Amino acid sequence: MNISEIFENRRSVRKYDDTPIDEEILKEILKIGITSPTGNNLKTVDLILIQDKKTIIELSEIRKIGTKLLKTAGAAILVIADSSKSNLWIEDASISMAYMHLASDAMGLGSCWVQMRTREDVNGNGLEQVLQEKFNIPKHMKPLAILALGNIDNHPKVVKQREVDWQKIHDEKY
Ligand SMILES: Cc1cc2nc3c(=O)[nH]c(=O)nc-3n(C[C@H](O)[C@H](O)[C@H](O)COP(=O)(O)O)c2cc1C
Repeated sequence: MNISEIFENRRSVRKYDDTPIDEEILKEILKIGITSPTGNNLKTVDLILIQDKKTIIELSEIRKIGTKLLKTAGAAILVIADSSKSNLWIEDASISMAYMHLASDAMGLGSCWVQMRTREDVNGNGLEQVLQEKFNIPKHMKPLAILALGNIDNHPKVVKQREVDWQKIHDEKY
């Protein structure tokens, strides 16, 4: 696949087959996530790899909506970044997420972004603090999102030639 085909084929996959992920592919995805670009090259991002089934199930139930897909995931990668080092930590962590999401699709794995920052758990507690406590994360390292990863049970239909709203692309001025 060339780069355009990789982008065209990418979808958020929410159905995994509950089987273990190939370790080499997982390592490659983690490598891509941790070497993604960061503002001023400050390398603010850390990744927490979660493969323990019990923890993955707990994460699948952490929000009222939007997290259930984690249930059959083979792994979850929690992306955190150092807010004391850079005020671009959200951008840094987002790029890491996007790179790993795209890379996993290109390598035949399914993945989906599961938002944590600004979200609450089922009891109404801010997930930033909940996750910091659960995973021993220091205060300055802020959770952004979790990438759910797994062997694909169902890859949503690829939308060929995704509709491009050219009106959103402005020529010289808005
Ligand atoms: C910032 C961001 C947050 C997202 N949060 C969630 C989420 O919490 N749960 C979920 O199931 N999908 C989440 N998604 C996935 C989007 O719903 C998905 O990318 C969108 O519907 C388009 O579908 P596609 O990725 O298959 O093209 C998120 C995506 C982004 C970029």
